[in-house]
Amino acid sequence: MSCVISLVNTKGGVGKSFLSVHLAVWLADAGHKVALLDADDQKTASKWLSGVAEHAVEVTVLEGGSEEAKAENLRKFINERKDSFDFVVVDTKGAAGLSTSAAVIKSDVACIPLQPSAADLWPIENALSTVRLSQEARGGQPKAFLVLNQTDDSDVLARDVRDLAEQFGVPMTKTNIKRLRAYRDAPGLRMVATRLTDKRGKPAADRLADLFIELLDGFLPVNKKVANG
Ligand SMILES: Nc1ncnc2c1ncn2[C@@H]1O[C@H](COP(=O)(O)OP(=O)(O)OP(=O)(O)O)[C@@H](O)[C@H]1O
Ligand SMILES: [Mg+2]
Repeated sequence: MSCVISLVNTKGGVGKSFLSVHLAVWLADAGHKVALLDADDQKTASKWLSGVAEHAVEVTVLEGGSEEAKAENLRKFINERKDSFDFVVVDTKGAAGLSTSAAVIKSDVACIPLQPSAADLWPIENALSTVRLSQEARGGQPKAFLVLNQTDDSDVLARDVRDLAEQFGVPMTKTNIKRLRAYRDAPGLRMVATRLTDKRGKPAADRLADLFIELLDGFLPVNKKVANG
């Protein structure tokens, strides 16, 4: 039985594809069987992964002319893989639509990345609303988290956003992700930061691993060694 994780936020540029690609490769590098569904027409995740060396992630672009067709294909995709994969990662698009709602409704974990700015808090209402509807209908599922991305540990705004987030009823992860050059350069260099082992890269890799362990609490087998762990 697989764990389905969707990366959701109707706002663009918040790090959905960045986290999807890293999560999928990090899990696959640790020996898990992983499928990634690229549900965004921009195809950022699938283009990025096509250049990354020796990863075992099964990458699929979500087909369908309309949002209804995409939602239907997404539902089938997840149903077909739930017994044969350990993890299914869904990278959703930066706009509201039925395919994004379907991803949330089919997920065990929904991760909502956002940047530490009030302007990033306003548009998350769409994702939060879908999460809440699904949680009420499915007895609390998916587990949902807000993740501060492109931030800084000492960022005052990040603290404000953390306070504001408490009002949403969806928790924010303890681990945030800094804005780092190692992350920014990863797609262009056709690599993933979770594989960095040098003095400057290792903290960037470890920070992502910490986030993924927090997001997947209860879904990662305790006896399976995870990369960088
Ligand atoms: N923590 C970070 N540090 C530095 N660069 C980052 C970080 N997170 C994301 N980026 C970069 O920011 C840009 C936007 O990220 P990404 O494409 O993942 O956003 P997205 O939410 O998937 O956007 P869209 O909704 O358009 O698909 C990318 O160039 C990505 O590599
Ligand atoms: Mg994207």
